[in-house]
Amino acid sequence: MLTIQNLSAGYGELEILHNVNVKVNDDEIVALIGPNGAGKSTILKSIFALTTITHGTITFNAEEITQCKTHQLLERGISYVPQGRINFGDLTISENLAIGGKDIVEKQEYSERLAHIFTLFPVLKTKLSHTAFSLSGGEQQMLALARALMQKPKLLLLDEPTLGLSPKLQKELFTLLQHIRNLEHVSILIVEQNAKKAIESADRTYLLENGSIIMEGGKEIIENPKIQQVYLGGSY
Ligand SMILES: Nc1ncnc2c1ncn2[C@@H]1O[C@H](COP(=O)(O)OP(=O)(O)OP(=O)(O)O)[C@@H](O)[C@H]1O
Ligand SMILES: [Mg+2]
Repeated sequence: MLTIQNLSAGYGELEILHNVNVKVNDDEIVALIGPNGAGKSTILKSIFALTTITHGTITFNAEEITQCKTHQLLERGISYVPQGRINFGDLTISENLAIGGKDIVEKQEYSERLAHIFTLFPVLKTKLSHTAFSLSGGEQQMLALARALMQKPKLLLLDEPTLGLSPKLQKELFTLLQHIRNLEHVSILIVEQNAKKAIESADRTYLLENGSIIMEGGKEIIENPKIQQVYLGGSY
């Protein structure tokens, strides 16, 4: 569904990604791993039209989107949750979710969507009038994810959703993402610091170093000597 071909991109004159090729198939969870500064976030930002693309193409459902603006990508069903817990801190949970669902015009459809979101994230329902700022780290991550899901995306771009969560919550979040993928038929491209968790939980993983993909594969790459040597200490 998503194909990134020979992509070179960066910020202004500064090229960060060099000839990157990444594919995400229907209903697939794909992880991007690699050390700090490798360019993982830059890949997600490039898909979401937030970088300077100097070479290559990005296609989504057989349509080229390389030159699309961010709002056009949203319309096509791509949703992006940036690194850090990006909610509207002063607004309530209810208001944050309303922003996520602002394009749902039908009242009935909106309340159905909201009810469905609460089945996925029951904790949010109990704190509707609380500000996003007052939530715990894990809850804030849930809210960011819930907001992105309000618009029924076909492709979800998640930048380190497990950052700062306890190992237990990290595991729960991955399980939840697998559940969401099955239920919503959404493909997920996820940046994850913890190489082991990423490889175990995703269908496929790409390893990025210095702006280039240096390895890709399914769960079997956990056995790869380089992955074993360098990355299986846990986090980078
Ligand atoms: N807005 C920007 N302007 C200029 N350079 C940037 C900008 N954002 C990121 N960079 C640079 O691009 C490179 C890759 O950054 P990126 O955020 O993609 O890395 P990352 O793999 O996501 O790292 P981390 O694991 O720390 O989040 C870094 O050298 C960074 O300094
Ligand atoms: Mg990053």
